[in-house]
Amino acid sequence: MIRILHKIKKYIGKMVPKCLYETLSEAECAIARRWVSSAHRRLMAIQWSLPPQPEFFDHNIDLFYLWLAKRNSLWLERGVFGSLALRERRVLELACGDGFNARNFYSLRSEHIIACDFDPKAIKTARGKNGASNIEYLLADIRTEMPGGKFENVIWDAAIEHFTPDEIMKILDDIKSRLTDDGILSGYTIVERADREKSLSHHEYEFKSKEDLLRFLTPHFRNVMVFETEYPERHNLYFWATDGILPFSPSWSKAAIHRW
Ligand SMILES: C[S@@+](CC[C@H](N)C(=O)[O-])C[C@H]1O[C@@H](n2cnc3c(N)ncnc32)[C@H](O)[C@@H]1O
Repeated sequence: MIRILHKIKKYIGKMVPKCLYETLSEAECAIARRWVSSAHRRLMAIQWSLPPQPEFFDHNIDLFYLWLAKRNSLWLERGVFGSLALRERRVLELACGDGFNARNFYSLRSEHIIACDFDPKAIKTARGKNGASNIEYLLADIRTEMPGGKFENVIWDAAIEHFTPDEIMKILDDIKSRLTDDGILSGYTIVERADREKSLSHHEYEFKSKEDLLRFLTPHFRNVMVFETEYPERHNLYFWATDGILPFSPSWSKAAIHRW
């Protein structure tokens, strides 16, 4: 049967030019793009317009709808900047949300990832949509039950603003005790809006500036870098903090630098 199918395919292949196959395939992709995009637009409307508002964002909505509709690549930055700090061994991701970054940015270049969140729906989504053989998704409140162990990387993306200043200081102590001597903490947060309205109701403390974020990190780490990017609707802060070597510092093993 398979041999017959192969023969038919070969015969038709000779009769039908490639351009026809390609046109049909392009048409199928165009229909699929429109469908997947509108399905994710509807999912976003349901999740974010009807109460209660979720704690985390499903990044499939960014991937299939928002990125193309808004031309905004901001959502990719945290995965890219976090990846630059990867030591390719043990990773602890705090407040992982839907697990998109754990799977699609961190898991291929890590031995093992423990990714945790205190929202059961986030963990269910992460396990369902963003599983990988080297990721362990755990339900945990990082104020009281941060997973134990030693890690070369701790990642805290889009979540430090969900805690009060006192909680942030305590969590940073707990992170420090889990990092190896040269381990790196990396993460992302946003700057408070000019009108001081909270960007999200779940936020406890929104940072005022790079310097404001720096003052939380420097009591815990010898080397800290905070840098910003600005988009029409959002002012973003990224951080790397370590007692070892920072990405892009002169002794960073991943770069060769020549100065005139
Ligand atoms: C804006 S989402 C960010 C998710 C993901 N890190 C990302 O970059 O897309 C913030 C996440 O912090 C989690 N979170 C808030 N408070 C937490 C806590 N005390 N312990 C663990 N996770 C928490 C929320 O459930 C939510 O998934």
